[in-house]
Amino acid sequence: MSNFYANKIFIPLMNRRLGSSAVQHLRRKTLSGVYGEILEIGFGSGLNLDCYPAQVCSINAVDVLPLRLFSAAPKIRVCYQIMSAENLNFPDASFDSVVSTFTLCSIPNVGAALKEIARVLKPQGTLFFLEHGKSQSQIIAMLQKLLNPLYNLLACGCNVNRDVLKLIAESGLTLQSFQQQQYGFPISGFYFSGSAIKEGNP
Ligand SMILES: C[S@@+](CC[C@H](N)C(=O)[O-])C[C@H]1O[C@@H](n2cnc3c(N)ncnc32)[C@H](O)[C@@H]1O
Repeated sequence: MSNFYANKIFIPLMNRRLGSSAVQHLRRKTLSGVYGEILEIGFGSGLNLDCYPAQVCSINAVDVLPLRLFSAAPKIRVCYQIMSAENLNFPDASFDSVVSTFTLCSIPNVGAALKEIARVLKPQGTLFFLEHGKSQSQIIAMLQKLLNPLYNLLACGCNVNRDVLKLIAESGLTLQSFQQQQYGFPISGFYFSGSAIKEGNP
């Protein structure tokens, strides 16, 4: 897909959908427990900035694209780096919290990214996630599988059929809490939110 399509059509549409007040509400809920040194992967347009708890005053953020549509909440300082979550340039055990919202769907090698997240988390550190993926309904999951190649093309690399909870569990992190819900469009609207911790002694 061309840069024109991505920048002028897809990203504005995505910001509208993912920046709606209903989705911002889900973001706030997901991020309510975020603490300490924070890394956000797939920062995108910074739609989480207004949703961090009041005590958060700085975060590290990475994305494969240059910073765009950045409407920073003035209270949060963002240390932004262009970097793939598949290969994080941070030492082991650097962060208390890693945040991923609507990003695990877009990372080509999501298994590698989750292993990197587990590596950079401190023991007892937490991944906070709000993602969409494979539906619990067998019929919708079948349609998602069928439509994923087209969706992937139109949505600039996003996949609708990833089994998010299974992928997180395979990374070695332990799911601590999670919710699954159908939200909006059947194909792209099966949402997962929650947290997963890295076991070990701090
Ligand atoms: C659907 S957008 C979500 C943006 C933002 N997290 C949000 O909640 O609105 C997915 C983001 O993941 C980024 N992304 C894709 N592959 C990535 C990778 N390998 N590492 C880091 N970010 C990546 C994209 O550039 C894009 O900004």
